[in-house]
Amino acid sequence: MCGIVGYAGPKPAIDVVNEGLRRLEYRGYDSAGVALMADGEIVTEKRAGKLSNLAEAVAARGGMTGPHVGIGHTRWATHGAPTDRNAHPHVSVDGRTAVIHNGIIENFAQLRAELEGDGVEFTSDTDTECVAHLLAREVGQGVDLTEGMRRVCRRLQGAFTLLAVHGDAPGTVVGARRNSPLVAGVGDGEYFLASDVAAFIRHTREAIELGQDQVVTITADGYSITDFEGEPTDGTPFHVDWDASAAEKNGYEYFMLKEIAEQPRAVADTLRGRFDVGGGIILDEVRMSDQDFRDIDKIFIVACGTSYHAGMVAKYAIEHWVRLPCEVELASEFRYRDPVLDRSTMVIVISQSGETMDTLMALRHARTQKARVLAISNTVGSTIPRESDAVLYTRAGIEVAVASTKAFLTQLAACYLVGLHLAAVRGIKYVDEVAAVVAELAETPEKIATVLAGMEPVRELAKRMGTADRALFIGRHVGYPVALEGALKLKELAYMHAEGFAAGELKHGPISLIEEGTPVVVVVPSPRGRSLLHDKVLSNIQEVKARGATVIAIAEDGDDVVAPHVDHVVFTPRTSTLLAPLLTALPLQVFACELAAAKGHDIDQPRNLAKSVTVE
Ligand code: F6R
Repeated sequence: MCGIVGYAGPKPAIDVVNEGLRRLEYRGYDSAGVALMADGEIVTEKRAGKLSNLAEAVAARGGMTGPHVGIGHTRWATHGAPTDRNAHPHVSVDGRTAVIHNGIIENFAQLRAELEGDGVEFTSDTDTECVAHLLAREVGQGVDLTEGMRRVCRRLQGAFTLLAVHGDAPGTVVGARRNSPLVAGVGDGEYFLASDVAAFIRHTREAIELGQDQVVTITADGYSITDFEGEPTDGTPFHVDWDASAAEKNGYEYFMLKEIAEQPRAVADTLRGRFDVGGGIILDEVRMSDQDFRDIDKIFIVACGTSYHAGMVAKYAIEHWVRLPCEVELASEFRYRDPVLDRSTMVIVISQSGETMDTLMALRHARTQKARVLAISNTVGSTIPRESDAVLYTRAGIEVAVASTKAFLTQLAACYLVGLHLAAVRGIKYVDEVAAVVAELAETPEKIATVLAGMEPVRELAKRMGTADRALFIGRHVGYPVALEGALKLKELAYMHAEGFAAGELKHGPISLIEEGTPVVVVVPSPRGRSLLHDKVLSNIQEVKARGATVIAIAEDGDDVVAPHVDHVVFTPRTSTLLAPLLTALPLQVFACELAAAKGHDIDQPRNLAKSVTVE
């Protein structure tokens, strides 16, 4: 949700900032802009639309390569339409202060009224512009830029990461954060500030994570950190161990295709070395004892979007393996519902980015109610893992495409590990029983690779379906969340009306959506073991076929019963029912990606979306 970059060092700031923005564009792509310090004067350029529009405008000004200090922003619009005038940076009336912002300033209306009362004329509809005027006022009263930032931050409510430059501090960039991400990069004679390390990974792998309510100042000579009151403090240093090439397409047309292809490796990495001899999982950060895991009498899984779908699968696994009640909740609803939580409740929060504001707020609510929180996240050191009692990191590597694929699969793998850990620690499953499931899990990366190698018919089918205006996805048991995920992928990428339903619910209303030729994708459970489920889904197929649907089934290898009743069938390797989503989700990812490509859509950056949603 908005990407921000700041730089102070010997290189042309525009090059570093542009490169950083390119890597952060997944965070928002409604507009982009830069502010550079040139001999004590601020020069800005900003444009609505993709980063390429900004690059053209910068090129038209001769490249703007002179300055060595600058800030840049790529926006996901909250306050104000995505236009040139609302693009960041926002500049004070005297043109000497420039500010960029990620988040929402909740008391902006009061601040704006106060500033307008003082005669300030606003030039945008954003909440951010208040900060530029407030900061200019503080510096105008004789304090330095860092102290000015602290004073302004003390007045702000909501979520913000801010970066600012000022004509009176030509070598300096000041940043601040509350409830929004900010990391500093420590180079050799150069320093960086950014929403995400991806922005500066080409220049340095040494980073510092800023804490809540901190202000950081960088120059080419160093950095300093204080809290909002001015007390010196430290950030948390960390080394970035992934390669810069991980954030490149490496020959794939889209990041999404690359990330789909990376899934066997991502799942294998997430599982690797995670089990100890006693059957317990090795958590990455644990502020919970085994006794804490034993004391739990209820579990909530809280997440958004695709991560929520992973949580729905986890519910089936945890209830079956652990025999504990487990509820799955949308993070955006959780705290408003006032759920019954206490010391014996465990809340599992799932977030790829580790930044999603809805999930973060749910986590905080859970902790104030004394519940114990376990985070499953893909982003080391992000806010959600940091504020949780225990963390299990998925090891998907950076996911750039806005539509989540490898993060989803690794979240599933992590959820299975947590379920097995709980079962082992609580003595519900013997070590050898846990080991048997772990061994089966260990085989899934190869099976994922097998499914991905056979996707050509799915691609062909997707191209042929390009004219459809809607699609339904149905499934039962763990096939139901997979159906929801398939529909979400199609909605976000192909901009098509797509809905996922529990197959048994169709007859209670949604079946009236079916017309001649309506595509219905059916996630068919294995006929082995749970034949009851399989039979019920077969009946659901008959029901939709009878009403003219074109049925595409995802079925298990060797399921001969399904094929005669459907129009197309995609087979996936045999696996146990609970683990099947690791395989059945794959054709749906490919289907959505290819169908959207056939429609000519932007696959990696679908309209209106952003990768990391840091507003509520
Ligand atoms: C969909 C997608 C989103 C995210 C959701 C939660 O493809 O990516 O639905 O899953 O915004 O994001 P995280 O997992 O970062 O909390």
